[in-house]
Amino acid sequence: TSNRLRHVESMAIFPSGAGKIPALNAVILGEALASEEDDLVFPSDEFSQQALVPSPQKYLEIYKRSVEDPAGFWSDIASEFYWKKKWGDKVYDDNFDVRKGAIKIEWFKGGITNICYNCLDRNVEAGLGDKVAMYWEGNELNVDGKLTYSELLQKVCQLANYLKDIGVKKGDAVIVYLPMLMELPMTMLACARIGAVHSVVFAGFSAESLAQRIVDCKPKVVITCNAVNRGSKVIYLKDIVDTALVESAKNGVSVDVCLTYENKSAMSRENTKWQEGRDIWWQDVVPNYPSTCAVEWVDAEDPLFLLYTSGSTGKPKGVLHTTGGYMVYTATTFKYAFDYKSSDIYWCTADCGWITGHSYVTYGPMLNGASVLVFEGAPNYPDSGRCWDIVDKYKVTIFYTAPTLVRSLMRESEEYVKKYSRKSLRVLGSVGEPINPSAWRWFYNVVGDSRCPISDTWWQTETGGFLITPLPGAWPQKPGSATFPFFGVQPVIVDEKGDEIEGECSGYLCIKGSWPGAFRTLYGDHERYETTYFKPFAGYYFSGDGCSRDKDGYHWLTGRVDDVINVSGHRIGTAEVESALVSHPKCAEAAVVGVEHEVKGQGIYAFVTLVEGEPYSEELRKSLILTVRKQIGAFAAPDKIHWAPGLPKTRSGKIMRRILRKIAARQLDELGDTSTLADPSVVEQLIALGEDS
Ligand code: PRX
Repeated sequence: TSNRLRHVESMAIFPSGAGKIPALNAVILGEALASEEDDLVFPSDEFSQQALVPSPQKYLEIYKRSVEDPAGFWSDIASEFYWKKKWGDKVYDDNFDVRKGAIKIEWFKGGITNICYNCLDRNVEAGLGDKVAMYWEGNELNVDGKLTYSELLQKVCQLANYLKDIGVKKGDAVIVYLPMLMELPMTMLACARIGAVHSVVFAGFSAESLAQRIVDCKPKVVITCNAVNRGSKVIYLKDIVDTALVESAKNGVSVDVCLTYENKSAMSRENTKWQEGRDIWWQDVVPNYPSTCAVEWVDAEDPLFLLYTSGSTGKPKGVLHTTGGYMVYTATTFKYAFDYKSSDIYWCTADCGWITGHSYVTYGPMLNGASVLVFEGAPNYPDSGRCWDIVDKYKVTIFYTAPTLVRSLMRESEEYVKKYSRKSLRVLGSVGEPINPSAWRWFYNVVGDSRCPISDTWWQTETGGFLITPLPGAWPQKPGSATFPFFGVQPVIVDEKGDEIEGECSGYLCIKGSWPGAFRTLYGDHERYETTYFKPFAGYYFSGDGCSRDKDGYHWLTGRVDDVINVSGHRIGTAEVESALVSHPKCAEAAVVGVEHEVKGQGIYAFVTLVEGEPYSEELRKSLILTVRKQIGAFAAPDKIHWAPGLPKTRSGKIMRRILRKIAARQLDELGDTSTLADPSVVEQLIALGEDS
């Protein structure tokens, strides 16, 4: 209780005028917080005292400066990195308002740097050469490895030299289709070193999805491995790449080189299908190159990577991040949100195929000289205690994961957790979807022994880094709330009309003003960038998420408000699944909605209308699901198929998804007004048929 009092008192001392900054109004009042204290979880005194940001006052002080003087705030931080040449007069230059012209975001323009140099060379020069940069834990128990910062630098240089030798130049795209081997972050860094633009494709995507990305960005080279063990399965990645390359060639994009890492523990080279002339074994060429490689110095605004993500249309969007702002932002958010100390051992369970693996497996941690754990396997293999076994083995101090993993482990016996000590843990993290309070409490109480604050980080592929996140030593937490904005971030909640709403409210989450880590465009489609993100609410970046703010100013994310669903933290466009379904010769029409799912957060629920005269069958259901797996990937397979003789449409032909969502959730008394439908009897039919019928 003394700790609780300390916090509440410290909040009460803020002059109420300090709350001029939107979203902080309510928080500064101690009484407001005290009245809800049952919901508050306080960091221990011990934790707060050692924390980088030890109190709400300190947070507020830094936050105020960050939004009142963004240029000063961010240039001070940026100066801690190595710049070959400092940026020009302007620290940043942006236009967030479509009414004033094209959307533009620039940070540190004219500054010349290299993010690989800042991740590796700079740390080696600072004396961290012998520090472990990456620990690697294989799928199987007792298969592991590690690389120090010096060793990693050498390996990155060899690969960079190879890439240069085959003609990869600054600005060229490189597609990376690798599992969680050390070679994945290594490849990202090697591309960055030579100014090439990596585009990592999650190795769970199908050949068709991979081909689509290859066709879009036309890479000089594709980097993959022959196969990988995941849990008890072997996944033959090279076969998928082979198919994708045939497919992309048909669409006019042929790739000259497929650099293939021989992942011996999963598959020998003798068994790997091979196309002479195009396919090259990594191990045959890369180690022969010199282990030093001059850096390609790039402008802060030169592209660093492209990462495809789902939107509300069928075509994935190539989110483009640039170098300087992204570097400064990922490093800073990593440091503060996890209260990083140089002695930490950090483990993020995300795959580098997603943004979390870019910003918080590779760049953010390495820019801080952290020791990062990379895990190849599945978290429940050989059993549900694997994560805690790994935590104990490496003495992991910061463990960052997704609510879906927490929920899946929570269903198993607590013995799997209790069997391991986990005493090294000090900070936990969550990302990808809202964490429900019961999962939060289990994570906090059982995994963290009620000792470790949880950083529930809200952000997106587009944002590059955390926008709303607890700072673990500063704020008392409310289970399920992402709490407050990171430094320099000004979240606003707007209503349908785009007007900002103050105080306790719910609405659409937007951001006012740019932050260094923001994406700069959608590759090849700046118009779509403006239309999707900046036109819905002029003057703001629109996140696509709903959010409410409670009377204490805490933010509660409520999920997507567009046609994007979030399945196990994977972002999937309903339109993508629909277009896969309708490509099936027996499917006439499909409408996909998200439905609550106990473990995955949301499940995929598909309403399918078959072509005239086609009977429903179990076989057909399986074949439809297989079509989605083949076109997108297994993670996008529908959980439920609901046969639909017709879909509820307005007279103008628009599918009323609101009604479908209610039918899927079996909330039949909440269907609302169906009188505007072209044929209201469709709804009765759907209800009568039920799911999987
Ligand atoms: O809906 C939000 C949800 O994930 C979306 C972004 O997905 P993606 O670009 O794939 O990036 C995932 C990793 C950053 C958001 O629009 N989301 C992410 N983190 C949270 C979240 N929702 C609630 N709380 C979070 N902590």
